[in-house]
Formats: sequence, structure tokens, C-alpha cells
Amino acid sequence: MQPSNEQDRAKWAAGTAAIDAYIQDGMKLGLGSGSTSHWFVRALGEAVENGLDVVGVPTSTGTRDLAVEVGVPLTTLAEAGRLDLTVDGADEIDADGVMIKGGGACLLWERIIAETSEKMVCVVDESKVVDQLGAFPLPIEVVQFEWEATRNAIGDLLGGLGYGEVELTRRMQGDQPLVTDSGNFIVDAHLRAITDPLAIDGKLNWIPGVVENGLFGGIAAEMIIGRTDGSHEVRD
Ligand code: 5RP
Repeated sequence: MQPSNEQDRAKWAAGTAAIDAYIQDGMKLGLGSGSTSHWFVRALGEAVENGLDVVGVPTSTGTRDLAVEVGVPLTTLAEAGRLDLTVDGADEIDADGVMIKGGGACLLWERIIAETSEKMVCVVDESKVVDQLGAFPLPIEVVQFEWEATRNAIGDLLGGLGYGEVELTRRMQGDQPLVTDSGNFIVDAHLRAITDPLAIDGKLNWIPGVVENGLFGGIAAEMIIGRTDGSHEVRD
């Protein structure tokens, strides 16, 4: 499979570069979700075909299906214990390595697996690297039960933190509400400019009904930035 356009080439550059830069025999790996991570999983499948000995834990059913298709052996956190490394994408990442994740609605499994890994490498195309987080709507996974009340509580919290123009929308898939791999809904918070990501992350998950939010701070150790010309840069 080949990249289909310029942005896809940048994603391919980041995802495939992770193999040479980080992957070694015997590693237990977290397998990220989204199109950039999927370039990594495809390249990993080729490496396994050529003799690399690794196992992976997928962060979504989509990544699980792709890993099976390309021949990456899978395991579970219950069997593997801690993982050596997770390679995953992001919707935005700032200079401190704080990310917005969950554009593909996989944030809950992604967070569980990243937190169970010794290290996470974030693979992104250059458009994802930002000075300030927030142009991308923040995904928040909520239980379906009385989800409107949870949405209202999220609005109150964010309003109280000074985000005056919060727009909260339930994520749709066609004309149906999107349902995550864990059976929950996603509420998107349009914050525009996030000044205090760690404060928001710390408070959102205390709201009853919130399962997880897409602000990942203090997790990505390094990032690989892919460019449209097919080159890449590794940044600490
Ligand atoms: C999925 C994610 C993805 O990593 C994120 O949306 C980036 O996706 P892509 O590589 O397709 O741009 O967090 O929940």
C-alpha cells in the first residue's frame, strides 16, 4: 500500500520511521490507532515477516483487525504486563509533548495502553505540531446513561475555568451517535485555545459519567514528525 496524497506521505514517513528508530527484537509494543499509527503497524507487519520477534497490544478494534491482517502477533496487557513502548498518533501535540488525542474515538484504550508502557513515541505529520492546543475539538468519552447531564457538567467545569465559548457536541457517525469500542459516546469540546491543559485533564475525569478525556500530558517521551517530502525528524 502506498500513501495516497501529500499529508498521507507525511504520515507514512513518521509511522514507518518508528521501526528503524525504536523497534528491537523481543519488544512488547502498544499499537496506536489512526492513519499514522496504521502506517507503523503495516511496516511492523513487514518486519515481522522478515523475522522480527515482537508482540503487540492494539488500542482499538480497528488496529487489532489491521494487525491480524498484516501478521503482527497480538497479546493482552493481562498476559504481557508492562509494555516496552507504545507508538501512537495525535491530533495535536505541543512543544512540551502534551497531546490532544481521540480524533478516531480510541482515546480510552489508547490512554490505558500508553500508561502501561515504559515509553510512548508520538508519530505525527507536521500539521499536528502546534504552539497552542485547542483548535482541534477535545474528545471526551462519556457513558451513554444520561449523557446530556454529563455534557452539562463538562460545560460548567470548562466555563468555570474561563472557557467562555465552549461548544459541546456529541460526535455523530452519519446520522447516528458514534459509539466507541467500549460502548460509550464522545462529546467534543470546542475550546479553541487551551491555556492550561494539565489542569483540565486533572479535573475532567472527576465528573461522574466522564470515562476519559483526550488531553494526554506527560506521556509522550519523543515524537517523530513526518514531512510531505517523505523525510522525518525525531524530536525529544
Ligand atoms: C485516535 C487517535 C489518533 O492517533 C489521532 O486521531 C491521529 O489520527 P491520524 O494519524 O489519522 O491523523 O487519537 O483516537
